[in-house]
Amino acid sequence: MKIGIFDSGKGGTTVMAAIKERLPEAEYFYIGDSRNCPYGEKTDEELMKITRKHVETLKKKGARIIVIACNTATTRCIAKLRQEYPELKFVGTEPAIKLATETGVKRILVMATPGTIESERTARLMAEYQRPRQKIRLLACPGLADVIEAGAGIDEKLAELLAKIPAPEVIVLGCTHYSLIKPEIQKYFPEAKLIDGNEGVAKRVVELTKQM
Ligand code: DGL
Repeated sequence: MKIGIFDSGKGGTTVMAAIKERLPEAEYFYIGDSRNCPYGEKTDEELMKITRKHVETLKKKGARIIVIACNTATTRCIAKLRQEYPELKFVGTEPAIKLATETGVKRILVMATPGTIESERTARLMAEYQRPRQKIRLLACPGLADVIEAGAGIDEKLAELLAKIPAPEVIVLGCTHYSLIKPEIQKYFPEAKLIDGNEGVAKRVVELTKQM
């Protein structure tokens, strides 16, 4: 089984690791598109052009399952890509808002790129899953994926973004890059539970491989 995965850089490696744990025997093709990082500050048109190119490359390699290991590209492009490539199976990564609300806590913080925060998909996830008396704060984090990709300036960027945010009980890491800096984020909110969508993606990929 050939599985294609892409992201705007190294964030998607966290998703690939979760899939590999369940499917170690599959063959993986990974595109880490750091040249175009950040996706989170691009228009839908730009993102469609970029993601189409990755899908073509992975399709040529023989992948029939394509994992979009990027919340931004998923929330903005997956519906169109599914229409354009009906012969492929797409699995997307989206902010784990459903999982977070199911914990029943009152204060949830969603950290993601501006593109994901402003997406219709995020609005729909909130409308669908937010429970009465639950407060969900959406925090767009421009520049955070860039510093993670570069491996420098992470502490300064986090201070700028998080210093004034009241402590949440659950934090949704709505960008795959953020899963790489869990300990740094946890330092600001030691009591908070950090959630990402990686396990959900891995489970979905396993389900699909069983159907193929
Ligand atoms: N890793 C990506 C995500 O999950 C995007 C980071 C970026 O390129 O802005 O949203």
